[in-house]
Amino acid sequence: MQRLELAPGLIWWPGHLDRPAQERLLAAVERALEEAPLFSPRMPRTGQPFSVRMSNFGPLGWVADEAGYRYQPFHPDTRRSWPDFPADVLEAWHALTGWTAPPEAGLINWYGPEARMGLHQDRDEQDFTAPVLSLSLGDTAVFRFGGDTRRAPTRSIRLASGDALLIGGDSRLAFHGIDRILPGTSTLMGQPGRFNLTLRRVTPP
Ligand code: SIN
Ligand code: FE2
Repeated sequence: MQRLELAPGLIWWPGHLDRPAQERLLAAVERALEEAPLFSPRMPRTGQPFSVRMSNFGPLGWVADEAGYRYQPFHPDTRRSWPDFPADVLEAWHALTGWTAPPEAGLINWYGPEARMGLHQDRDEQDFTAPVLSLSLGDTAVFRFGGDTRRAPTRSIRLASGDALLIGGDSRLAFHGIDRILPGTSTLMGQPGRFNLTLRRVTPP
């Protein structure tokens, strides 16, 4: 399998999940969404909804609304606990991060054809020692990444269905975002759109 170090600590495995593994993971995501439906996160300051819709797996889920960006153990609308991590997700985490502790949060992002995500840092965790692992399913996305400041130069890559990306080490706080997705580039779902899972540790080791 190809392993590309895009920057120190930013590692890309194109096609890490083969088609059967992508289908299994998609089925697990769809099952989780029956229990914990996609919600629309909102910008804390303006209350404006994100174009990306979200849900979570695992003991903690990332949410955003007028009260801020945070992790919490329950769904903001149903108030129920988040669904457990699928075994395949835990396996990918252990294999690619080398981390013995399991992830605590598994954010599920859903991008419809028009959705995008502005440049940001993942910094709502209490500790940045552990990496963030991202898994992509469905349509290809234009993923942009830069340095630790918003002004640092950026580059973009195309993340396709089955790709894994580790955001860790010296790149743990690198700015990143999704410029757009390329609808119709994957046959996985039979409809345009993309799921991205990001797995994280939230609390200190
Ligand atoms: C994120 O930064 O939370 C998502 C990145 C992606 O969708 O690939
Ligand atoms: Fe992020």
